[in-house]
Amino acid sequence: MEDDSSMMSVTYCVTGASGFIGSWLVKSLLHGGHKVHATVRDPAKSLHLQSLGKSHGDRLRIFQADLLEEGSFDEAVEGCDGVFHVAALMHFNVPEDGEDSVESNILEPAVRGTLNLLRGCLRSKKSVRRVVFTSSISTVTAKDSEGKWRALVDENCQTPIQHVWENKASGWVYVLSKILSEEAAFKFARANGINMVSVIAPTVAGDIEYFKILSAVKSRMGSIALAHTEDICRSHIFLMEQPNAHGRYLCCAQSCTLSELVEILAKVYPLTRLGVEKEENGSVPCEISSNKLKDLGFKYKFGADDIVNETVSSCLDCGFLPPLQRNDDWKLCLRE
Ligand SMILES: NC(=O)c1ccc[n+]([C@@H]2O[C@H](COP(=O)([O-])OP(=O)(O)OC[C@H]3O[C@@H](n4cnc5c(N)ncnc54)[C@H](OP(=O)(O)O)[C@@H]3O)[C@@H](O)[C@H]2O)c1
Repeated sequence: MEDDSSMMSVTYCVTGASGFIGSWLVKSLLHGGHKVHATVRDPAKSLHLQSLGKSHGDRLRIFQADLLEEGSFDEAVEGCDGVFHVAALMHFNVPEDGEDSVESNILEPAVRGTLNLLRGCLRSKKSVRRVVFTSSISTVTAKDSEGKWRALVDENCQTPIQHVWENKASGWVYVLSKILSEEAAFKFARANGINMVSVIAPTVAGDIEYFKILSAVKSRMGSIALAHTEDICRSHIFLMEQPNAHGRYLCCAQSCTLSELVEILAKVYPLTRLGVEKEENGSVPCEISSNKLKDLGFKYKFGADDIVNETVSSCLDCGFLPPLQRNDDWKLCLRE
């Protein structure tokens, strides 16, 4: 990516800049010529950001901030034109002290943390023109109120809170914390004149829990929504800069069934052996629609093949997957 520091630069704050999406977003913004105030909980764990800063002059400043400390973000958002709220309390499981503590130990802090940041934006001498909130596909469901699959899923198909409490499906704690903090953020923003939009990001994690996460997404959505990290960052920046943007935007380049995804994976990494049942014959997976974002003018750069290809090659580069070689029959096999 070429640096474009010639354009008039604005300053954006990115919360959760030490994380996966946050650090890519910081990188994209710096490449776009912007100034960035990156917030991290522990500056000692942000060496990758600090080295990024060195290659972009003085355009990156790192701030220590914690969602759970009132006023913690005030310095970071001061003077910023916009704030990307990427940070979230990433709790997926019930805490050790049991389900009764989910409300007080996870949900209430998640909401309080988000409002803490927004109050900081209000105190920023009105420099902050828009907040882009990173939401999650986990806030959306493909099943209607009668439990039937919808043909098309969009931003309006929010998972009912009551349904999450009753079913407690895999990852329910995270689902609730994302739904409640986004709802509270929109409510606060409306009440206080803050211009806020949200990006509903699909699953982008790539660790060993990936298959479990995909299975949970599949049971809620019927198909898997995919977007490349670069497109996720581009959609955040696009929505920050589009004057007409408002409300929630689903960011999904392509959706496919789990078995289609495994087929793509098997082409790139033929040793893939995952116990994926073939989807029921005759069932039509729902379309996870990104039309609202595309109608605003956003264009995806990467499709499902590119996403899987790049994921596999970076896993090979990092040593997360054993390397392959061609055998005498020119078939790919594990390198001896
Ligand atoms: N990854 C996905 O599959 C996915 C899908 C849809 C949406 N999202 C959303 O995307 C955002 C980023 O996710 P990610 O995948 O990049 O996860 P990640 O790598 O775990 O990043 C989470 C970030 O939040 C920060 N954070 C956690 N608790 C905090 C607190 N109390 N105060 C301040 N910062 C705190 C973390 O800081 P530390 O480094 O200090 O822990 C980290 O920078 C989240 O809002 C998530 O809900 C993710």
